[in-house]
Amino acid sequence: MKMSEVLRQLRQQRTTAESRPRLMERYAAFLPISGTTPNLSLGEGYTPLVHARNLGRAIGCPMLHVKVEGMNPTGSFKDRGMVVAVARALENGARAIACASTGNTAASAAAYGASVRMEVVVVLPRGQIAAGKLLQAQAAGARVVAVDGNFDQALTAVRELVDSADSADRPVVLVNSVNPDRLAGQKTAAFEVCEDLGGAPDYLAIPVGNAGNISAYWQGFTDYRDAALLETRPAMLGFQAAGAAPLVIGHPIDSPETVATAIRIGNPASADKALRARDESGGVIEAVTDLEILAAYRDLAQQEGIFCEPASAASVAGVRRMAAEGRIDPGATIVCVLTGHGLKDPDTAMRLVQPALEAPATAAGVREVLGW
Ligand code: F0G
Repeated sequence: MKMSEVLRQLRQQRTTAESRPRLMERYAAFLPISGTTPNLSLGEGYTPLVHARNLGRAIGCPMLHVKVEGMNPTGSFKDRGMVVAVARALENGARAIACASTGNTAASAAAYGASVRMEVVVVLPRGQIAAGKLLQAQAAGARVVAVDGNFDQALTAVRELVDSADSADRPVVLVNSVNPDRLAGQKTAAFEVCEDLGGAPDYLAIPVGNAGNISAYWQGFTDYRDAALLETRPAMLGFQAAGAAPLVIGHPIDSPETVATAIRIGNPASADKALRARDESGGVIEAVTDLEILAAYRDLAQQEGIFCEPASAASVAGVRRMAAEGRIDPGATIVCVLTGHGLKDPDTAMRLVQPALEAPATAAGVREVLGW
């Protein structure tokens, strides 16, 4: 094609930011919003669905796909729900938002709160938050409170704080996933998956912590089915970190050992919904070990070029094991949700990477250390 022709086509295609629908506009019919809800956006949603050909072939599931939620504005799926929750809080005249978090909810609340100039309070279990997530919350100007306790204790404290806030006319809004606006926003990821595949996958695999996201996806598939936009729904495969797997019978809760600190939760707030999603869909909720998680985390980065955070790799780790045990039809279309970005947790990455080679600043020097 001639350059002039290319330029002519580009000119014709040119779209403006205003002409691309934002997530909340696009799925308004399925969200708890009205004409008076502020139309916020930091560019959330529309994340890539990538066909993981190399890894899929290696584990015997050639139709393995990954939904790369680390591409959201703050690097995790939380943004889909946070945009709705903060828009609604703003609409209701909230004076502040608050959450407990293992890091990603905090980073997302901090960003969306900052974007509407609202006070943000995040309560975090001290010493258990990946470096990047903590910095995201701090950089956005949130008031960060570290507590000596686990996530569950932090959530209990925040719930009480919010309930007792003097909120007659200007409430403090809890933006954990017990807030139904959060789950409503998060179900939009299921809509995108169906649109990208032209239907539902056979399996949807996902890490489980507080069990909000698995419940949100199931609601999304169900909404699309009820609206006759979908004929089938996937079997839901939820994976918790061994040592922090309260929904899996026989697994101890809240071990300090897991690399998947984002999902170290003893008492999942949406447990009932998640178990219903499992049972209605004919799926499973199982535990995966640190070794399985780290292997999937490394292979996603090195075989697919997709750097997710360790907790996210639980979905691929679980599918790999089920495939090895012959519990997944090799022809099935599988979507693994990768919930957060690898850059959030440099310390875990550091455990896996090779040190940089060192050389003089010459071609000869570099050639020598490469062994070329
Ligand atoms: N993956 C990541 C990267 C997470 O940060 C979380 C939860 C989950 C999966 C699990 O999702 O809780 O809906 O089952 N993180 C929360 C937080 C707890 O505070 O950021 P869930």
